[in-house]
Amino acid sequence: MTAKSASDNKQGLIDVLVRTEIRAIASYHVPDSSGLLKLDAMENPNPWPGPLQAEWQQALSLVEANRYPDPGGRAVKAGLRALMNLDELSAESNQDIDILLGNGSDEIIQILAMALANPDRGIMAPEPGFVMYGMIAKFVGMPYVGVDLDENFDLDIDNFVAQVKVHNPALIFLAVPNNPTGNVFSLEAIERVVEASDGLVVIDEAYIAFTDSDLLSLCAHYENVVVMRTLSKVGLAGLRLGFLMGRKAWLDEFDKVRLPYNINVLTQASAEFALKNYDVLVAQTEALRDERSNLFNRLMQIETVEPFESEANFILVRCLDKPARQVFEVMKTEGVLIKCLDGAHPLLTSCLRLTVGNRDDNERMIEALTVALNGDGATAE
Ligand SMILES: Cc1ncc(COP(=O)(O)O)c(C=O)c1O
Repeated sequence: MTAKSASDNKQGLIDVLVRTEIRAIASYHVPDSSGLLKLDAMENPNPWPGPLQAEWQQALSLVEANRYPDPGGRAVKAGLRALMNLDELSAESNQDIDILLGNGSDEIIQILAMALANPDRGIMAPEPGFVMYGMIAKFVGMPYVGVDLDENFDLDIDNFVAQVKVHNPALIFLAVPNNPTGNVFSLEAIERVVEASDGLVVIDEAYIAFTDSDLLSLCAHYENVVVMRTLSKVGLAGLRLGFLMGRKAWLDEFDKVRLPYNINVLTQASAEFALKNYDVLVAQTEALRDERSNLFNRLMQIETVEPFESEANFILVRCLDKPARQVFEVMKTEGVLIKCLDGAHPLLTSCLRLTVGNRDDNERMIEALTVALNGDGATAE
C-alpha cells in the first residue's frame, strides 16, 4: 500500500467512526492574544496584589503534586458554602442545599448534559447566548433549541414558554446576566419559565460579581432549579473552577458523572487561598463595575457606535457606520483584542463585545476603537 492510499484509508475510517454532527462542527476557537491587550474573554485584569502573591505562592509550595487531589474538594466546598451562606439557605428553606465542583462551569454544563442526555428531550436556551450550551448538546447527542430574544435582548416570554411546551426540554439554561448581551432577565419571566418547565432549569450566574441580581434562593424554592457560578470572572479564570448549587438529591446524581479528580491539587490550594482572601477579589470587581460605567459613558460620546447597558464585565456595542469585522481587525493591528460577534446571530449584526478592563486598558481600547472608526479601514495585514 502506498503512503497516499494508507492516509486515504485513515480518512475513510475517521468518516465512518466520528459522528456526523462532530465532523460538522469546528472546535471552539480561542484567538492568539500574544502581544495584544486582551479584552476579549471577560477576565479580571488584576493579579493578586504584591504581598498576597507571595503568600499564594507559599501556599502552593506546600502542595503535594505527587498525590491525587481530594476527590471531593472538601476544603474548597467548605469555603464556598460559607461564602454563599448555604447553611442559612438550607436552614431557612428546610432543603439540603449542596455544591458540586467542576473544571470551570463549562465542565458543569457537560456533567449536567451527560446526566440528562436524551435524544428526545434536549437543551433549550435563549439566543444570542453562551455558545457552550449548544456545543455540549451536540457532544452528548441531545437536540438543541435556541429561542431568540426580542430586539431589546429580553426574553420574549410568551414565545419562550410556548417553545418549552412544544419541545419539552430536559435542560434549560438561563444566563443572568446574559452573555453576550449583558442584561438581566426579570425575575417574573424567569419564574414563568421555571413554572412552565418539566425539565431542569439552570440559572447560570457566571457574571454575578457585576450585578445586584442574585437568584440563588430559587434553587431552594423550586424543585427544578439549580444555580451555577464560577471563579473565572472574579479574577481566577486560570484556575478553572466552576460550581453548581442546588438540592442534594440532584447533585448526588450529577456527582456520579463527574470524573473523580476533576479539580487538580493546584486549583484546590489556590481556591482555598482565594476564598480566605475573597474581599480582595470583591474590591477588584467593585472597581471594575465603576470602570464599566466610565467605559459606557465614553462609548456614549462616540456617535458611530451604540453601546448596550450591561450588568456584566463587558459591554456589547453596535458599529453604526463601519463593518464590525473591519473595526475588530483594525483594533487588533492597534494592539487590542476584543470579540467580534457580527455574524454569530442576526441580533448581533455589526456587534462587538468589549471586556471591561482597568482605566488605562479601557482608554487604550477607546483609542484603538476611535482609530478603527475614523480610519479608511486599511489594515496592516
Ligand atoms: C454565561 C457563561 N457561563 C459559563 C461560562 C464558562 O465559564 P467557566 O470559565 O467557569 O468555564 C461563561 C464563559 O464565558 C459564560 O459566559
